[in-house]
Amino acid sequence: MGNIMLTDLQKEIIELKDEKNAIILAHNYQPKEIQEIADFLGDSLELCIKASEIEDKELIVFCGVDFMAETAYILNPDKKILIPDIEAECPMAHMLSKEEIKTAKKNHPDAAVVLYVNSLADTKAEADILATSANALKVVESLDEDKILFGPDNNLATFVAKQTNKEIIPIPDGGHCYVHKMFHEGDIAFAKESHPNAEVIVHPECNDEVQSLADYVLSTGGMISHGKESNSKEFIIGTEIDLITRLKKEIPDKKFYPLFDEAICKTMKLHTLEKVKNSLINEEQEVVVPKEIAEKSLKAVQRMIEVS
Ligand code: 13P
Ligand code: SF4
Repeated sequence: MGNIMLTDLQKEIIELKDEKNAIILAHNYQPKEIQEIADFLGDSLELCIKASEIEDKELIVFCGVDFMAETAYILNPDKKILIPDIEAECPMAHMLSKEEIKTAKKNHPDAAVVLYVNSLADTKAEADILATSANALKVVESLDEDKILFGPDNNLATFVAKQTNKEIIPIPDGGHCYVHKMFHEGDIAFAKESHPNAEVIVHPECNDEVQSLADYVLSTGGMISHGKESNSKEFIIGTEIDLITRLKKEIPDKKFYPLFDEAICKTMKLHTLEKVKNSLINEEQEVVVPKEIAEKSLKAVQRMIEVS
């Protein structure tokens, strides 16, 4: 947490967390005040790996969206997983149903099923392996099959398809993230004009045309590592706005400009400090995955972690 001046409420949460033997995990898109009280901040893959390593805590408070908390449960069915606001859902994760995967499997019996971690637990139970934006190509290349059913994000599917010889079949038709769809080619041209020395980095959930105009296409964790390692001093960032909050804090000597400053994931912002405090005091809202589904989907989660 460094040298930040914490508010009384933030200090109260940290005390409560210790009393309750809890850990707070937060995604990179969380607002500043939550980033400041998180024990661990990361992208989807880093959060999965962290969740798989927690041994000594009874409660996990997950400041992220539904599929992230569900994955933490799948990895920790013996612990209580709490999400401060139960309405914090990722719309993309709800775009692919178990039935759609079953139909796709029937139509392509020789294909492996790779599901983006942004998917619900009952669909994960149908997957051979999961993937995130940080490891999707590596995951696909790790499989024996040459045909891959990949969902639900069509843009991430295209990003992988362009780099592999395997056949990538996106499921469902039109699966997308509404936040990353907000970026357009014109935004890149405009941002480059305003900051001619900046590198352009976008997320693989952006449209293909936007990806093609960027210097790098990276996960949010990849953007942070790249920002630290690159010789460039300025960056245009094409992802959810609060990633810039973390970049500015951790890399204060460089400049980060949003590709579009209204790229906000509304459900990520439902969590507030008051709700985190309530989660800890009342041990709510609990996220539970039915036993059979959790056991079945654990294989795909673990297989991804092994490959990463
Ligand atoms: P990352 O895994 O890159 O953090 O992405 C998660 C996400 O939901 C992007 O919209
Ligand atoms: Fe889902 Fe998009 Fe929000 Fe990420 S940014 S959680 S993919 S809606």
